[in-house]
Parts: sequence; C-alpha cells; structure tokens
Amino acid sequence: MERALLILKPDAVQRGLIGAIISRFEQRGLKFQGLKLMQVDEALARRHYAEHEGKSFFNGLVSYITSAPVVVAVVAGKPGTVELVRAMVGATNPAKAAPGTIRGDFGVDIGRNLIHASDSPESGERETAIFFQPHELIGEWNRS
Ligand code: CMP
Repeated sequence: MERALLILKPDAVQRGLIGAIISRFEQRGLKFQGLKLMQVDEALARRHYAEHEGKSFFNGLVSYITSAPVVVAVVAGKPGTVELVRAMVGATNPAKAAPGTIRGDFGVDIGRNLIHASDSPESGERETAIFFQPHELIGEWNRS
C-alpha cells in the first residue's frame, strides 16, 4: 500500500473548491483513509515543511498555511498512488501547471497553489503520521 497526504490549503477552502478537488480523486478511483477540516498551528506547519526551512519562502509558507482552516486527507492505494496523485495535482507553480491538473485548472500563484501532496511514498508516511492519529485512519482502503 502507498499513501499520500493532501492538504487543501486556505485558498482552496476559502474559494469553495473543497468538493471540486476531493471529487477529482474520488472520480479517479482513489480511496480516502482520512479526511478532516483543521487549523494548523505553527509547530505543526514547521514540522510538516521542515525540508524548506531556511528557504526564502519558508516564513511566508508557514504563516500562510496557519492563517485559516485547511482540509487534510490521506489517499491510499497500490504502488504508484503517490505518483498518480502528484500528476493530478500538477506543477508547484500553477502558472506552469498543465491544464487538466488541479493547479493548472484552478491556480495562479505559487504561494496560493491550492493543494499540497506528498512527493514520495516515504513523505506520504511521514506526513500522514504528522497530521493523523492511527485511530483517525480507516483501514479498508482497497474495498471496492
Ligand atoms: P507545497 O507542495 O505545499 O510545498 C512547498 C510549498 O512552498 C509549495 O507547495 C508552494 O506553495 C510554496 N512556495 C512558495 N514559494 C515557493 C517557491 N519560490 N518555490 C517553491 N515553492 C514555493
């Protein structure tokens, strides 16, 4: 099994795009193991984005993701799920994201790029553990 953590960022929630974005993953046949609306605090944001610490955009990134509620989710499936999710999300910079991808269809700004998705199966596990307690995750990820 492979898992990806998704964060529908404040811009996605504020623009009323939760349903449209979640629906794309459902339509593609991906299974949700966890899903919740939450407010991210600074400690959680710094932990999640630790690999970007020291970069010019780090402080802005932390302050943005903590500024308003987000939706976090875990999608799980067979090997290749993380790569599929990344392909559906599109390039980090929405201006360069292909039409048909979430960022390419809905986004404009790199700092307001609607959604985060884990970049590898290892990141998927690490990020899932940051945002979800085991009891919040449903195990029947492959039921048809
Ligand atoms: P995300 O997938 O959440 O991972 C790191 C985030 O940093 C990225 O999406 C962008 O929203 C944000 N970011 C802001 N500025 C930049 C930048 N110049 N390069 C890369 N990422 C950036």
